[in-house]
Amino acid sequence: DTGQDQGELRPDRQEEVARAAQALASGGLVLLPTETVYGLGADASDPAAVAAIFEAKGRPRFNPLIAHVADLDTAARIAAFDERARALAEAFWPGPLTIVAPIAAPSAVCDLARAGLETVAIRVPGHPLARAVLAAFGGPVVAPSANRSGRPSPTTFADAFAETGDRCAAALDGGPCQVGLESTVVAVLDGPVRLLRPGAVTRAQLEAVVGPLAQADDDAKRSPGRLALHYAPDAPVRINAQAPNAEEAFLAFGPWPDGERVFNLSPTGDLAQAAANLFSYLRAADRTAPAAIAVAPIPDEGLGEAINDRLRRAAGFVG
Ligand code: TXA
Ligand code: MG
Repeated sequence: DTGQDQGELRPDRQEEVARAAQALASGGLVLLPTETVYGLGADASDPAAVAAIFEAKGRPRFNPLIAHVADLDTAARIAAFDERARALAEAFWPGPLTIVAPIAAPSAVCDLARAGLETVAIRVPGHPLARAVLAAFGGPVVAPSANRSGRPSPTTFADAFAETGDRCAAALDGGPCQVGLESTVVAVLDGPVRLLRPGAVTRAQLEAVVGPLAQADDDAKRSPGRLALHYAPDAPVRINAQAPNAEEAFLAFGPWPDGERVFNLSPTGDLAQAAANLFSYLRAADRTAPAAIAVAPIPDEGLGEAINDRLRRAAGFVG
């Protein structure tokens, strides 16, 4: 289970949720915790609110947003889901999977949010606060990661607030994000299901539900947001480093001696732990003002595919 605890929300949190839903209904932006990363949310049907997201993030307008909804029924009214999309939704929602499918209700997720495409990216997040806001608001909420464009996604409330909190009418503190990497994005259109962005739901988990995925040939070109330099801290990033050089910070993986600029993603070599720590440790390493951030090799299996994808992009390599 990749969702966070599903307990009843305390009364003071219910009030916060109601205020956040009200802010969305008035066209405001909301800092929204999800189980993957913090999002910057707006009413998906309101072009002015959606424009404010692009403005707050400094995001290029050709890069479409993900619509977040409370449940599969709502999703299936907005997007045309075939049996494969339904099977994936049933297997992984609520949770860190985004499904790209043909748009069925164009006014529910406005043109600007879709960057003019005839498809829509949609997901049901697992975080209880996100789910409560979506249920209270009723309609789809577009929410890109709450970082300014090109920077690492925020996985704590403090990091999220520092990035775009000043633009928000409401901000919900949902604690540290359990997954720590953005959702897996798949396209369910003509032909085999295509992996557009690796994430917490792994290739093997997807293939167990829908069979072999499309070949990786030109995946990078198909998701408009997959820019070369992405998730980047201020310091340059050097990947597959066996050890740090002088003046470098080091993101270790597995046993490694403590040190002033050493941040161990997972001393036991656990990929889920490394994913959860990745973006906050990149930020912490950056704060030591190093000459560069060296990162230990991460095995390319399971969740490692998503971690290595983000690291290659942080280092400025395309794919
Ligand atoms: O985990 C997540 O997905 C987080 C949380 C907040 O839900 N959100 C997130 O959104 O990562 P964002 O905007 O940073 O990434 C959305 C990705 C981009 O790569 C974008 O290009 C792709 O989804 N995308 C959105 N709509 C698409 C479409 N119609 N076709 C192809 N790719 C699409
Ligand atoms: Mg992002």
